Amino acid sequence: MNILLTPARIGSLEIPNRIVMPPMTTRTADEEGYVTDDTVAYYLARAQGGVGLITVEMASPEKAGRHRRREIGIYDDRFVPGLTRLIDAIHRAGAKASIQLGHGGGIPAATSAARRRSRHRQFRIRSTRPHSKRSFPRR
Ligand SMILES: Cc1cc2nc3c(=O)[nH]c(=O)nc-3n(C[C@H](O)[C@H](O)[C@H](O)COP(=O)(O)O)c2cc1C
Repeated sequence: MNILLTPARIGSLEIPNRIVMPPMTTRTADEEGYVTDDTVAYYLARAQGGVGLITVEMASPEKAGRHRRREIGIYDDRFVPGLTRLIDAIHRAGAKASIQLGHGGGIPAATSAARRRSRHRQFRIRSTRPHSKRSFPRR
């Protein structure tokens, strides 16, 4: 038996195998940050492909901290239904899920004085296209 395909534990969480997918940004969320059908299809395909633990791509815990356009939103409860739909799809395919939280360093407009003092400027969020159309299952 290949040990890679045997279950593993992280605390009380049992992972069906030892294949862990690192966070890879897809830019499949919509402009607001809501999970889309493309987001679900992308991660579902990886779960069905046999990944044991999927790390969903980087998401900022604060709006000003977003790294790019079409980044998955997790900084407000309004994103919970979409995130729940995504996680349910991953779970139904037998995988477990985590998500990478990352703050891009942007400062909210309300703290403009702090922004002026900061050397870390809010950068322009430019990229919008998914990284690779080939990453998506045909539908
Ligand atoms: C298209 C793409 C998107 C990525 N997005 C993220 C990301 O959201 N967060 C992150 O920490 N790393 C991201 N990465 C880096 C990958 O997680 C990293 O390449 C992977 O862990 C493999 O590690 P290695 O570069 O050490 O081989 C991305 C890589 C690619 C190719």
